[in-house]
This record gives sequence, structure tokens and C-alpha cells, in this order.
Amino acid sequence: MSHNTFGHLFRVTTWGESHGPAIGCVIDGCPPGVAFTRDEVQGYLDKRRPGQSRYTTQRKEPDTVAILSGTLENAETGEHVATGAPIALQIANVDQRSKDYAEVKDAFRPGHADFTYVAKYGLRDHRGGGRSSARETAMRVAAGAIARKVVPGLAVRAALIQMGTEKIDRANWDWDEVEQNPFFCPDHSAVQGWAAYLDGIRKAGSSCGAVIEVEATGIQAGLGAPIYGKLDSDLALAMMSINAVKGVEIGAGFAAAAMTGQENADEIRKGKDGKATFLSNNAGGILGGISTGQPVVARFVVKPTSSILTPVKTIDTRGNETEISTTGRHDPCVGIRAVPIGEAMMALVLADHYLRHRGQTGSA
Ligand SMILES: Cc1cc2nc3c(=O)[nH]c(=O)nc-3n(C[C@H](O)[C@H](O)[C@H](O)COP(=O)(O)O)c2cc1C
Repeated sequence: MSHNTFGHLFRVTTWGESHGPAIGCVIDGCPPGVAFTRDEVQGYLDKRRPGQSRYTTQRKEPDTVAILSGTLENAETGEHVATGAPIALQIANVDQRSKDYAEVKDAFRPGHADFTYVAKYGLRDHRGGGRSSARETAMRVAAGAIARKVVPGLAVRAALIQMGTEKIDRANWDWDEVEQNPFFCPDHSAVQGWAAYLDGIRKAGSSCGAVIEVEATGIQAGLGAPIYGKLDSDLALAMMSINAVKGVEIGAGFAAAAMTGQENADEIRKGKDGKATFLSNNAGGILGGISTGQPVVARFVVKPTSSILTPVKTIDTRGNETEISTTGRHDPCVGIRAVPIGEAMMALVLADHYLRHRGQTGSA
């Protein structure tokens, strides 16, 4: 099962299964001198960690990260400075309950990877889904925390803008609100309604999807490349590689179809500093695959969790028709915990492109 590595110059390889003893990653290509603390990495992991509210899976994983190699640690400040050698990070799995997966051992969950893993490999790790489990994404979040440090001035943040049928009112957008509620929702007026909505979904033994918006600021003009190295195509790949993601948009995205040319074009003026300034950002900060210097904006849709209590039609591993109901601990809306994962994938793409830009043009 290859293809466990993401990136070109900032390369992250993840390893480990949901119900194995540990998961981990190796970051190859982190420039020497990049400084970070274990607490910073842990802070991002804590945002993704399961069991933090009644709206996510009750699997209790502390997700405590260990930094095993590739840094020099200052014992007094706790700061790690990358040496340029591979950085290995590891998280122990402590709360596996493999017996919860007995019901999916001999039957395929519709909407999950059970059927296709068997079709391709002839076998699958039914305990928690093995590599198809989003447990793997914890390592993306850990690596993303370090990637953020590679690009000077970079800030990446994300929010949940739709849960099931419930949308935010963008006029109420408040980034400070995102950290104040269990949904990473930027619209305070939506939170109570979302809580009731998700309680209803969960009590009905069902699940719902979500839309996440990710924004990166502090990016110079010029990151990315034409043709097959486009910043937007790499972002689409990055977001689409997250479990359960079924759609990605950049900037105005699908809404651009209904715009006129005048509406969609981001008009250009000369700013006070003499540099180009754009009057809008329908392009999501990318033109011709190359960053404009505006915020880079991506949105992705996460489908409803496939492991649900309500029985659904399927076949067993011998090909007989049956029904399956999944009783283990599953998120009713996996989109909530996808918010920090989207941030991490944005940071990984931008760190990689920053180093590629430096390598190709000789300038940072
Ligand atoms: C943060 C996160 C948590 C997830 N947790 C679950 C889960 O508890 N149960 C489940 O059936 N799927 C869960 N998923 C989705 C599955 O991993 C995913 O649907 C499966 O691997 C099949 O891949 P695909 O949906 O991308 O085709 C989760 C996804 C994310 C992003």
C-alpha cells in the first residue's frame, strides 16, 4: 500500500493504523533553523482530538505527541530547532476498542472504504478501518504545525460554514467566535441551532455533512507554478486527500459560474505603496496557478459519516445481501474535526511551494 507521502520539498510520510500501537510521521525536507515547541504542535492536535464534546466521537485519545528526531531541543525553553535531518513525530493509540468493529468484519459499510480495500488488496484491517481511518490525519495536523513555521508571516485559519442543511450568515462572520464553540462556527447566532440540529441527527441514528472554509494570509505573490504545479491544483489534491471530502472550491469556486466577467474579475488598482492592489478576491488569491499576494481561500465539503446506527443495505464478504448497523464510536458530523485538518493541509501545501519557489527562483 504505497502513496503515504505528501509534498515535494517539504515531504511528509505518515504511518500507522487506527488500532495499532501508535501512529507517526516523518517530515523530510524541513529547512534547518525552523524553530517550534512541542506545545505548539500539541495545541493544533488538541483542536482535532476526539472526545472533546458530545458532538464528536467519544474515543478518548490524548494524542500526546513525541518528537523523536531531527531537532535540537533547548531544555530551558522547550524550543526545538530543526537540524535539517528527518523529523519523526509519534502519537500512541491508547483507546482502541477493536471488538466494536466485529459487526463490520464480515460486511461492507456502504460509504466507507471497506468494499474498495478488499477489491484492491484482497484483505482489509477491519479494526477501526486501518489506514482508511481518519486517525491518520492526526499526523497531518502535527506536520502542519511545523509547516506553518516554514513560511515567514504565514497565518492559516479555518471555520465550519455549513453543517448539514444549516448555513452561517456570512454577515455575522467573527473569527474570534470560531474558538468559542464546539463546531468552529464563525457565526455566534448559528451555534445554538446547530447544536439542536446535530442532537437530532445523532438521536435519529444518522449523520450529516459539512462545508469548511480555509484562509491563508501573509503569502507573497509568486508561489505556485504553471501547468502541472499549480498552487490551486495542489490545494485541491491536498483537501481532496482528507477522508470523506467530496468537493473542493478555490475562491468564488462554483459560484463563479453564475457571475459575469465584470463581477468575477478581481480589478486591479495601484495601492498607496505603489504596489498592485485587488478590489476583490474571487480568484481565491491564485491566478494562473500562482499566488497573487491576496489571502488564499479554499473550501471543501465533507460527506456525512458512513458508520451510522440506522441499518443500511449491503453485502457480506461472501457476497450475500444483508443489512449493517454500526454501533461503535463515530462522529455524527466528521466535518467538525476536519477543520484543523484543512488548516494543516493548507500549511503543508504552502510550505512546500515556498521551498519550491525558493529553489526555482533563488529568492524567498
Ligand atoms: C476527522 C474525521 C473523522 C472521521 N471519523 C469517521 C468515523 O468515526 N466513522 C466513519 O465511518 N467515518 C469517519 N470518517 C470518514 C472516513 O474515514 C471515510 O469516509 C472513509 O475513509 C472512506 O473514504 P472516503 O469517504 O474519502 O471515500 C472521518 C473523517 C474525518 C475527516
